[in-house]
Amino acid sequence: MIITTASDKGGVGKSTLSFHLAAAIAEIDTAKVLLIDGDVNRSVLNWAERSDSTKLPFTVIGEKHASKWFQKGNKADHIVVDTQARPSDEDLKDLLEDTDLLVVPTTAQALSLDTLPQFLKRLENLGAKVPYTFCLTIVDGRTKDEQDARTFLQAHDQPVLSGFMRAFSAYTKASAQGVLVKDARTDAGKKMAMPG
Ligand SMILES: Nc1ncnc2c1ncn2[C@@H]1O[C@H](COP(=O)(O)OP(=O)(O)OP(=O)(O)O)[C@@H](O)[C@H]1O
Ligand SMILES: [Mg+2]
Repeated sequence: MIITTASDKGGVGKSTLSFHLAAAIAEIDTAKVLLIDGDVNRSVLNWAERSDSTKLPFTVIGEKHASKWFQKGNKADHIVVDTQARPSDEDLKDLLEDTDLLVVPTTAQALSLDTLPQFLKRLENLGAKVPYTFCLTIVDGRTKDEQDARTFLQAHDQPVLSGFMRAFSAYTKASAQGVLVKDARTDAGKKMAMPG
């Protein structure tokens, strides 16, 4: 299965979600998972390069190296593709051609949600018929934002994953440390607390 994360809005957690989605799929299915970095900023590639890569349960490569990787005889059961914010129409069309599921991360704030109809319109104009779902990210658990965002999406008949990503500083630490959030440590080297 090929899962692509994409959104018009930048900084909504696409790379963070892609990194953890790849890990979750690898762990649930003990499958061989490939994470392709389709962002020129190399977010997930840099994240993986900061790690002792043997600790990550998936492989990360840049988009340009993907065909070579497969030509060498490498195989993946599932592929997650991270993309850059607001991909061009051409890039988006290319990306979606082989995608089985498009995951559109969105924060739960109105400003982020407001951009979604426009993104859906772009998909429609491109003739993209790919199944998609929204995923709420960077959710502040102290507010009603998650519930309000769900109500908004459901009122517009839009699919949204029941799972979501809470806002935790551990995600930013994890990226800086080249690890998954479950392995993130404080500056003092202590394991970070992750309330359920
Ligand atoms: N659940 C979270 N809790 C706290 N911080 C988060 C969370 N998810 C992402 N972040 C932080 O928010 C910032 C943006 O996240 P990320 O890079 O994943 O977004 P993006 O959509 O891939 O951005 P871009 O559009 O620039 O590619 C980063 O600093 C990241 O560490
Ligand atoms: Mg990114």
